[in-house]
Amino acid sequence: MNEIQIVPMGEKHLDALVKIDALCFSDPWSREGLKAELSSSTACFAAAQRAGETVGCAGMHCICGECYIDKVCVHPGARRMGIARALVQYLIDDAMKNHAEFITLEVRQSNDAAIALYAGLGFEPVGVRKNFYAAPKEDALLMTKFFSE
Ligand SMILES: CC(C)(COP(=O)(O)OP(=O)(O)OC[C@H]1O[C@@H](n2cnc3c(N)ncnc32)[C@H](O)[C@@H]1OP(=O)(O)O)[C@@H](O)C(=O)NCCC(=O)NCCS
Repeated sequence: MNEIQIVPMGEKHLDALVKIDALCFSDPWSREGLKAELSSSTACFAAAQRAGETVGCAGMHCICGECYIDKVCVHPGARRMGIARALVQYLIDDAMKNHAEFITLEVRQSNDAAIALYAGLGFEPVGVRKNFYAAPKEDALLMTKFFSE
């Protein structure tokens, strides 16, 4: 069964997610770093499962109605199946349920795939952070999705 499931991230997802994170980023999170999100009162982290395998995750923190996406990653072998869209939509739904004012994030300016993903979900470019990223050094595009009451 290849149906994609988006569920709250749990301890059982962590081993796979640490490996996926290392495949996706030059500065991956440790298992301890991911695990800490499970007990954070401001965090909302979701995992994607396909055919019983953990294939990605997305997470954000929300404080005083302002949400910040920390991570979105999908295993290279499971891309272009709508998994990241479903993960980010889960975060959007959670933010809306909690009456957030906006969700914001940074993305590498060269990351066309992620920029297209966020634009398709209603995130708008709102600014640039110079030299935000290292390894390799690059500017970040700031993108925000505003919720109007
Ligand atoms: C960016 C990333 C999360 C997308 O994951 P995904 O599951 O393949 O994305 P989806 O299948 O949900 O795609 C949703 C939309 O995003 C855009 N998109 C995704 N991958 C794309 C690509 N390679 N090229 C262009 N657009 C792309 C498309 O608009 C796509 O919609 P479509 O398939 O109907 O055209 C994935 O490539 C990834 O993990 N990259 C490495 C980590 C990363 O860059 N994370 C984001 C950091 S800010």
